[in-house]
Amino acid sequence: MSRSPVRVAPSLLSADFARLADEIARVERGGADWLHVDVMDGHFVPNVTVGPPIVESIRKVTKLPLDVHLMMTNPDQFIEAFAEAGADYLTVHVEACPHLHRTLHFIKQKGVKAGVTMNPATPLLSVEECLADADLLLIMSVNPGFGGQQFIPAVLDKIRRARTMIDRTGNRAVLEVDGGIKANNAAEIIQAGADVLVAGSAIFASEDYAASIHALRQAGQAHSRSGASPRRVARG
Ligand code: DX5
Ligand code: ZN
Repeated sequence: MSRSPVRVAPSLLSADFARLADEIARVERGGADWLHVDVMDGHFVPNVTVGPPIVESIRKVTKLPLDVHLMMTNPDQFIEAFAEAGADYLTVHVEACPHLHRTLHFIKQKGVKAGVTMNPATPLLSVEECLADADLLLIMSVNPGFGGQQFIPAVLDKIRRARTMIDRTGNRAVLEVDGGIKANNAAEIIQAGADVLVAGSAIFASEDYAASIHALRQAGQAHSRSGASPRRVARG
């Protein structure tokens, strides 16, 4: 099965919020495919960020798909508000969703693509029963809550297993990876099977956003030119 080139989703968590529209315009010009918006409630994670009004404001200044990552204990209560604010993807944590099947279907009923994710310590198997209901599977490669953390190397194997799980079930879910992604580890993450790379500090802490986005994407192109990689062989 052939795959589209890797997509890059800058995480606005590391952007300058006082100049958010400019920051968005810069990554958009720089070739961003999606915008990743991190919603943190101070309960599920030890940090607080933005809610639906900010997503609504972001929606007005960009045409890029808004990939909204809900790090909150009660996502069900806010799905409608984020859908109305203009989210294209809403991703919930399995740890916060006792009725994951219902939550994913509720998201889709609202006309939004449904994503599911889990913390690094949570087994991949916790989402297996609902994978067919998801449009996106996000593998967290740091403990959620903050930008600028180190990629957890053990997660590489989880990405490989997630890739196999998606391909085996014939599911079309997009495989996204979030946390600690830099130009120097992007190739192995793509090789493990990622379709979308979320990157915050690698882009917004750099001088040249376009060059940083390009460097992440290049890692994918170098991989696809290698031809006989294990990933391509595995997919036939
Ligand atoms: C972490 C967030 C990430 C974060 C990634 O809780 O979910 O999206 O912004 O930032 P970097 O790329 O700096 O690790
Ligand atoms: Zn995120």
